[in-house]
Amino acid sequence: MHYGVDYYPEHWPEERWPEDARLMTEAGFNIVRLGEFAWSLLEPQEGTFVFDWLDRAIDILAEQDIQVILGTPTAAPPPWLTTRYPEVLPVGPEEERIGPGGRRHYCPSSPVYRRLSRRITQEMAVHYAQAPTVIGWQIDNELSLSNPGRCYCPACQRAFQDWLRERYGSLEALNEAWGTVFWSQVYTNWPQIPTPLPAGADHNPGLLLDYYRFQSDAYMSYAQEQLDILREVCPDHFVTHNVALPLMDVINNFNLASKLDFLAQDTYPGFWQILSHTEFGEAFGGRPITPEMVAMVCAWGYDAIRGNKQGEPFWVMEQQAGPAGQRIFSPAPRPNQLRLWAYQALARGARAITHFRWRTCTFGAEEYWHGVLDHDGVPRRRYEELKTTAGEMNALGDDLAMTPIQADVALLFSYDSAWALAIQPCHPRLSYAFQNIGYYTPFYYANIPVDIVAPDADLSGYKMVLAPALHVVTPDVADRLSNFVREGGTLVVGFRSGVKDKYNRVVTNPLPGLLAELLGMEVTEYDALYDQPQAVRFLMPELEDVKADCELWADVLQPTTAEVLARYTMDYYAGRPAITLNCWGQGQAIYMGTGLSEEGLGRMLLALAGQRGVTPLLGAPEGVEVARRGTADTEWWFVLNHTSGQRSVDLPGAFVDALSGRAVGASIQLDGYDVRVLRPAQ
Ligand code: GLA
Ligand code: ZN
Repeated sequence: MHYGVDYYPEHWPEERWPEDARLMTEAGFNIVRLGEFAWSLLEPQEGTFVFDWLDRAIDILAEQDIQVILGTPTAAPPPWLTTRYPEVLPVGPEEERIGPGGRRHYCPSSPVYRRLSRRITQEMAVHYAQAPTVIGWQIDNELSLSNPGRCYCPACQRAFQDWLRERYGSLEALNEAWGTVFWSQVYTNWPQIPTPLPAGADHNPGLLLDYYRFQSDAYMSYAQEQLDILREVCPDHFVTHNVALPLMDVINNFNLASKLDFLAQDTYPGFWQILSHTEFGEAFGGRPITPEMVAMVCAWGYDAIRGNKQGEPFWVMEQQAGPAGQRIFSPAPRPNQLRLWAYQALARGARAITHFRWRTCTFGAEEYWHGVLDHDGVPRRRYEELKTTAGEMNALGDDLAMTPIQADVALLFSYDSAWALAIQPCHPRLSYAFQNIGYYTPFYYANIPVDIVAPDADLSGYKMVLAPALHVVTPDVADRLSNFVREGGTLVVGFRSGVKDKYNRVVTNPLPGLLAELLGMEVTEYDALYDQPQAVRFLMPELEDVKADCELWADVLQPTTAEVLARYTMDYYAGRPAITLNCWGQGQAIYMGTGLSEEGLGRMLLALAGQRGVTPLLGAPEGVEVARRGTADTEWWFVLNHTSGQRSVDLPGAFVDALSGRAVGASIQLDGYDVRVLRPAQ
């Protein structure tokens, strides 16, 4: 198994490189990622390429049997480039030109930037195609994590117009799709179509959703140009890309994954640990983030990145290695916590892990983002811990790395819905991603595996499908969901589903639109909840004791064929249906008309899961995560203690510790932040 670090030899004197390589090997690291921000050294002036320093670094690593992934360095345009070609600089949504000085300051549509990116990629590819220890490539770096994310420059405007022409064929079709008759926006030639820069009022939602799709495609076609070169020049190397925050993205990662050999992810639990103290603090509705929630969100990220490529194992290209921080620090990872986090990735489908970064830099914007080694380069606690981890990963590795994960539950993630709701959230605190996480949460805490999949995924293998806020529904997706239920599946659809068509227009039939017949009900009224209290009373006997407050939203439902599972208790629609269940074919389709509080939603979803025969892997104390990889005859079980205290876990059968090979008892004890990998005893 590949296990290693992200390394920046260019940040250190060459005399140190052999010592770095020696320490890496001694720790058991066998792979490094190099070069993804080194453009200004690799091409110090336009058309002059210098690879000798990188060759020497690769040679020194090779002497210690360390293999290499190379990043194409296009995430950081050098100063000569942005000075000579200022038109490559992106324009933000407020029409602000983003200047140089940071990174990722380029427009994905810029013809000049694309030409120069192709050229450095080509030169690197040719130079390293035969390098014996280079095994693969990372295209660029975190394509979607820039400031501003989406670009609104004139080059993007021209590319957007071309993209629209290709998609709609005629202006008549486009005008019809967007409803440009509203506010006198009927376009009579393509160059009239704007990018959604600040306007006299809100832009047309159809234009906005297409702009988001176009920007995703712009990054895709930019990446595709590098990919084509690498495929041609380096056919024996893999090509991947490291995704920053899966699914909360300007890029549709399902599309991206389909082009690459596998997807990679960057994981920083420290980012989540301090979230409530930063400008992103509202993400969980301003709630303080507990360690269990950090673990849960990281698990969601892994399940998402795995789902982006139909369940195939992924690489963690950057795994936290120390206190995270640019201007402020995350807490120091506790003893064994880095190991725990690495195991969490492995448990949820990682095939390889590289830690970010090897040694903490003494300069630059990330001098406080800590690596395995501290600023002074001295190996200490974190080095020793990852050395232990590397030994274990190498022992477990090869059999485990490509082993799949099996889940009975699929959670849909729709980029169209995410983007449409970002454009018109309906309620200021309604976030598609956090609706998704909300449905994921009870399954995570109950140790029930979940796959996160695209709405057009093959659902036939699942028992239960969750579709929170499936805002945009196409006839194809409606058919798939209907077939899934007909064949015996349980489908749970959340409020604000089926509202929009693919052009981001509100549907003309009663909500939830194309899903209304399947769900056996109609939404007759809706109410955005702000300060007014609302709650539901369950009619399901097993939920009678549940206190279920409502938040964000309340749809008032009129069943056609469905039965009522819960009714509102307050305000003018007290007594009216809030949650319904419709029998359809062999299965059941449930509509959740309101945003239940965490406890209510969890109890409800787990009750439905239980009825469908979806059960936890095993019951474990709070803060202990249990995950499983493999199929019946090749199973690995992971028990991960995310708490600082001792926890004991009862096992459902006879198990062997995968590392020691020794049988374990019916109950195991885990110290704080400890991990156990178990295999069923034969
Ligand atoms: C991201 C980037 C890295 C580095 C880390 C830490 O994931 O890919 O280059 O910036 O964050 O901030
Ligand atoms: Zn642009």
